[in-house]
Amino acid sequence: MKTDRKTAFFGTWLIALLLPLLACAESLPKQAAIASADPLATKAGMEILGQGGNAFDAAVAVGAALAVVEPASSGLGGGAFWLLHIEAEDRNIFVDAREVAPGAATADMYLDKQGEPRPHASLDGPLAAGIPGQPAGLVFLADRYGRLPLAQSLAPAIRYAENGFSASRRTLMGLRFRSRAYEQWPAFSKVFLPDGEIPETGTVIRQPDLARTLQRLADNGFDGYYRGETSKLLVDGVRDAGGIWTADDLANYKVIEREPIVVENRGVRIISAPPPSSGGIALANMLHVLAGFDLQAMDSATRKHLIIEAMRRAYRDRAKYLGDPDFVDIPVARLTHPYYAAGQRGSIRTDQATRSTSLAGIWPKQSGGTQTTHFSVLDSEGNRVAATLSINTWYGSGFMPPGTGVILNNEMDDFVIKPATPNEYELIGTTANEIAPGKRMLSSMSPTFLESDRGVAILGTPGGSRIITMVFLAGLEWMGGANASEMVGLKRYHHQFFPDEVVFEKGALSPDEQEGLTEMGHQLKESRRAFGNMNVVTWDYETGKVEAVTDPRGRGEDEVRVY
Ligand code: GLY
Repeated sequence: MKTDRKTAFFGTWLIALLLPLLACAESLPKQAAIASADPLATKAGMEILGQGGNAFDAAVAVGAALAVVEPASSGLGGGAFWLLHIEAEDRNIFVDAREVAPGAATADMYLDKQGEPRPHASLDGPLAAGIPGQPAGLVFLADRYGRLPLAQSLAPAIRYAENGFSASRRTLMGLRFRSRAYEQWPAFSKVFLPDGEIPETGTVIRQPDLARTLQRLADNGFDGYYRGETSKLLVDGVRDAGGIWTADDLANYKVIEREPIVVENRGVRIISAPPPSSGGIALANMLHVLAGFDLQAMDSATRKHLIIEAMRRAYRDRAKYLGDPDFVDIPVARLTHPYYAAGQRGSIRTDQATRSTSLAGIWPKQSGGTQTTHFSVLDSEGNRVAATLSINTWYGSGFMPPGTGVILNNEMDDFVIKPATPNEYELIGTTANEIAPGKRMLSSMSPTFLESDRGVAILGTPGGSRIITMVFLAGLEWMGGANASEMVGLKRYHHQFFPDEVVFEKGALSPDEQEGLTEMGHQLKESRRAFGNMNVVTWDYETGKVEAVTDPRGRGEDEVRVY
């Protein structure tokens, strides 16, 4: 990142002040902790830690288990971002296992002859699916950073797929939402609709095809999915159903290691997801914008107004500039610079909402359900993983290539289907995020670490376009002294530039705050649904306390153990 001399001088001082504090404050956590969206996934990770695995082995086990027991949210047909901290090297790495567009994909592939988006074309069925990255990510993590063989870390997931898991209310709710997507694909229905209809809560769902696919991955690593039998089943299944995948698309898939976005703000180091995620840049920008305001001195409506204005501007930049960094030039240094944020701050009035249409950029031409999963891991050596995994909306594309047990993602909808036309999350974008062969679609997934002299927080959440603002609000709370329970329990609100409205969970804005924000010109919309399913692990250097907390909105499980 380029900096001018003044900022470099200040930054050097800040780092010089912070590093000794970090170094002397911490030793080792002595306990391991996992917070994930499903009890069986957390158990899988603990089992692997108990066998001598490190946080990265545990992350393989949790990620693979979630693919089996939380099939609406992520899986071998999807993609993932893994933010890693290797304690012994004091190094952070971002492992990008995001899906890519197939080789035959084109910028206008979802438009009709009139140039308008074909309804649901980028959401349902095999044409909606990008080439999966999660299986390659699991192999990569185990080979490069794990201590145990891949097969050992995949064993719990294979067991769950063979023996079955008990369908939760959440599993079944997703089936209700997405019947349009899967009803014409018999392989999907055979697994999830055993008697031809949505089963009762507690029904045991077995996935023998998925167990075999996982076993081939365990036996043969990358080639066990991206070449050979699994690849043939996937490609034949997709093409027979009208999709465009080829064997080369799979064989050529590559995991990419990237430098995370790292910024310092008010004594906290924020380490988060770089492009093709929009999370890290947006978080950095919003924090820098707010740094120029004395938020604590303000009444709560004004404080929330300024937080909303920071959100508005970060999402405007997301829409205008962001895409796959291997295809487009992204002005990362500028967008994450405090001086850039200072310029944006100058456009904010403390007593009045900005109209999104008054900001230069792009505006939508016109105006579901979101699914993804996040888990956080800390091992007793201080290694950390923040992982956000996705097949996009509930049960992804709803398409399962016969014989694989793999539900394919519908992540192609995260591309810009047509400039300035909102996607499923009502996000808009420009050519920076247009479809091209082999390109990664822009994401909001934001696995994040926060570090200060107080300790460490490992966090993230599902929630489509709201992921970034949820991580932002939780991060602000932690920076203000909150603990893990307070971070996940926090009521959430969100603004994403367009639609020009503040959408909020029940209780997130008090009646006074609603009145104050409305007077300033904000459009408020209370959501009937809860936002996200955050999983947080924290480690307090002073007390040595390690906490793992799952979101009260979900059904996850957290566990802290001495290993
Ligand atoms: N599919 C959700 C995201 O990556 O942002």
